[in-house]
Amino acid sequence: MSNDEEPWQRAAKDYFQLGDTHPSVALRESVLYKSLLDELGNVSGKHILDAGCGDGKFTQNLLSAGASVVGIDQSEYAIELAKTRLSDYKDSVELLKLSLEQVGTISGERFDVVISSMTFMSIPNVEQIFRHFVKLVKPNGRVFITLLHPAFDMNPSQQKALGAFSNTSGKTRLCFDIEHRYLETVSYERTYTFSGTKLPYYFRPVQYYINLFIKNNLSLVAFKEPLASKQIVVKYPRLRHTYYLPRFLILGGKKI
Ligand SMILES: C[S@@+](CC[C@H](N)C(=O)[O-])C[C@H]1O[C@@H](n2cnc3c(N)ncnc32)[C@H](O)[C@@H]1O
Repeated sequence: MSNDEEPWQRAAKDYFQLGDTHPSVALRESVLYKSLLDELGNVSGKHILDAGCGDGKFTQNLLSAGASVVGIDQSEYAIELAKTRLSDYKDSVELLKLSLEQVGTISGERFDVVISSMTFMSIPNVEQIFRHFVKLVKPNGRVFITLLHPAFDMNPSQQKALGAFSNTSGKTRLCFDIEHRYLETVSYERTYTFSGTKLPYYFRPVQYYINLFIKNNLSLVAFKEPLASKQIVVKYPRLRHTYYLPRFLILGGKKI
């Protein structure tokens, strides 16, 4: 597949143009980033690979907390945005246009932490990528991934699920469209409500991801299903389901 055909080459423009006040951006920052940073603890002096760093918004949190970071992303557009955003941190950040499938070109047990946040759902083969993440961390180093929570994912689009979210007779109800059995790994084209962007989506159940950590001999150190706060739901009523059900799943493992 040539680079122009990569789905994220098209999607990145829409996705990263959403302003900070867009509900999905606000949710990511106030729930996902905040929880992931809590799980990471003190990153000052740590060397971190941010694999699928996008426009560098999360990377910036790591840098301002004193980490040095290598950020990679397959989207040239995203990497250019990241370079602009992170221009104040030139000495402690390296940004490369590189796909996760090419992560094997980076070598050595050189990182304290490898993070790949919100990437695996759009990647067809994650086994080899994850195995390489483990190779890249030092002994006692950690690997983190974050996902749209598979168990509560609102298939096939958030919009549809919002329509299925109702409050009748004082009871909150959520209806899922059932299109496949939960334990099946399936892929489909998903329309994201943030911009109408269509991206391939690879659904894998929670146990698939846990087994990825087990198979790679990582000891599980983080399993977090963060919920949105009341304040954010009051500000963005369309996010109300995220107050009740976790939109994200954070998993972390330690190399022993
Ligand atoms: C949802 S964004 C997440 C960005 C950032 N990690 C965050 O948490 O805010 C997904 C990013 O993953 C990147 N991505 C998706 N598939 C990738 C692949 N195979 N190799 C490298 N980057 C990829 C996209 O270009 C996009 O920047």
